[in-house]
Amino acid sequence: LQPQQVVDEIVRGYRLHEKTNDLGDLVVTTPGGTYPVYIEPDAMAALPAWLQRLQIHGRAWLVSDDTVMQLHSNHVLMVLQESGWEAQAFAIPAGEEYKTLMTVQRVYDWLLSHSVERGDVLLALGGGVVGDLAGFVAATILRGVALIQLPTTVLAMVDSAIGGKTGVDHAQGKNLIGAFYQPRLVLADTSMLWTLPTVERSAGWAEAIKHGVIGDAQLFSDLQRYAQAAVELAEPVTSDLLRRAAAFKVRVVSGDEREQGSRILLNYGHTIGHAIEAESGYMLRHGEAIAIGMMAAGMIANQIGLFPASALDAQQAVLESFGLPTRMPATFDATAILRRMASDKKVRHKRVRWVLPTSIGTAVVRDDVPEEVVEAVLRKMKN
Ligand SMILES: NC(=O)c1ccc[n+]([C@@H]2O[C@H](COP(=O)([O-])OP(=O)(O)OC[C@H]3O[C@@H](n4cnc5c(N)ncnc54)[C@H](O)[C@@H]3O)[C@@H](O)[C@H]2O)c1
Ligand SMILES: [Zn+2]
Repeated sequence: LQPQQVVDEIVRGYRLHEKTNDLGDLVVTTPGGTYPVYIEPDAMAALPAWLQRLQIHGRAWLVSDDTVMQLHSNHVLMVLQESGWEAQAFAIPAGEEYKTLMTVQRVYDWLLSHSVERGDVLLALGGGVVGDLAGFVAATILRGVALIQLPTTVLAMVDSAIGGKTGVDHAQGKNLIGAFYQPRLVLADTSMLWTLPTVERSAGWAEAIKHGVIGDAQLFSDLQRYAQAAVELAEPVTSDLLRRAAAFKVRVVSGDEREQGSRILLNYGHTIGHAIEAESGYMLRHGEAIAIGMMAAGMIANQIGLFPASALDAQQAVLESFGLPTRMPATFDATAILRRMASDKKVRHKRVRWVLPTSIGTAVVRDDVPEEVVEAVLRKMKN
């Protein structure tokens, strides 16, 4: 860690406007809907004006988890009520283990017992779990009510709140039940990140680093330079980096809503990452598993001559500067990881499609990676 003075100095040197000018506003454009993504400190203050602009006139139903509810829902409800909106809130228990149809049922019960109507709006205030689950509720209740994503984690701001994938887990696996359903707006208030534990912040930044590696070299090098400021949430660096990481997802999703083409690029680090996440019994955070998965994919790309060693080292350095793991836990067995990947593959009757970087900022999709290479990398990756 660098002393605070040094960090302050680096942050002062960050030339925000030079970098964001060409970004413009972030707008997702898909057949399923066109909507803006706003990421800034105190963004929540603009929520009532947004509802008006979107011509939403019904009641507002806020869904959150019990942790975020306690920390941030009062602020949101107050902002709404002060502008004359009728708003009520419901909390689901926090945690991936509650991202289930059973919890969906409870939210349906709450909404229906209060006579929710087609013209109402559902606000998803929370991380990816709340966003995915509440999004699915919005997609299905009364055959669809308006949805606004109010992401409160780094991961949700740069990734899960954008793109319209909603759903829940099933005993057979993660995210197996769901729907594509685009929100009308993504409004991310970065001051809500202050209460997010450091480990959660880092795990979320892993997805931002992923976007840098596969598609934005400038973002990557700024993440490298401003890592500490980002973890400490110094502004305006944080909002700007989040916006630029989100911009990559916006671009990819806008070209490919249903993951038939370039959206697969977002799976970088996820092929092995998902297997590692599952193998840990979900003790590793998603972003932590993805960090390890990115290192594995980077090593595979390096082994088959796609990705220079210097770029692989740079990736490792950035991940480490965000406090993310880059090696497999010592107790993990390469064979078990391979078995999980194989059973994933069998389900889909397909070859594994690897997203592999070719430099910092570019990636390709390959389905001809020899299994021996994967196995050798996994064995080498153990702590
Ligand atoms: N839909 C998509 O495209 C997409 C993409 C990536 C991930 N996901 C999903 O996202 C989920 C992971 O999201 P996540 O990492 O945000 O996890 P999460 O929603 O579980 O949030 C992590 C933890 O942080 C807490 N929290 C959230 N905001 C907080 C805040 N501001 N202050 C303090 N605590 C806060 C939550 O209560 C939770 O305990 C997974 O279910 C994953 O499948 C979806
Ligand atoms: Zn991910």
